[in-house]
Amino acid sequence: SNPTAAEQVSARIHVIPDFPEAGIQFQDLTPVFSDAAAFKVMCEALVAPFAGRFDILGGLEARGFIIAGGASILTGAGVLPVRKAGKLPRRVITETYELEYGVASLEVHEDELPAGSRVLVIDDVLATGGTAQAACRLIERAGWNVAGVAVTLELEGLGGREQLSDYEVFSLLRA
Ligand code: PRP
Repeated sequence: SNPTAAEQVSARIHVIPDFPEAGIQFQDLTPVFSDAAAFKVMCEALVAPFAGRFDILGGLEARGFIIAGGASILTGAGVLPVRKAGKLPRRVITETYELEYGVASLEVHEDELPAGSRVLVIDDVLATGGTAQAACRLIERAGWNVAGVAVTLELEGLGGREQLSDYEVFSLLRA
């Protein structure tokens, strides 16, 4: 029988022991991106649960940009780039979130979308959920709606899904 989307994508993920530091099993999705068939299947699978319920794809810098771009061509929805701080040239809204060591910020142009736009947040990996939560807060502060959060890989046990309990979260794979 044909492999499922999850099986096709999972087969392409490389697990690198002890990167970037000892004890971390790094899940490298670059082989999914470089395989056009697996990449397409992944993009299709991430948007399918939200079909008809979003207007635009919110890609989180940096790897979420790649997936949102692929999903855009498949669905006809555009891309909202949710960027790291200091990159966007017009008036922005900023949300700061906690990293393991220190803080980071995400930004969107405050006037990028019409009020009430339904944004599907897209990223490669959900870990603590800090990044996706900051993106959702940005979207709401801008006057838009979060249609949901779709990620290729959910790292369980780090609290990401719990942090995003206000939203519908879909993950293609869990590890
Ligand atoms: C990674 C990943 C997610 C985020 C998940 O991005 O692509 O965006 O971390 O972690 P969290 O759920 O604990 O917030 P990273 O910050 O490494 O940025 P990059 O994609 O620009 O390398």
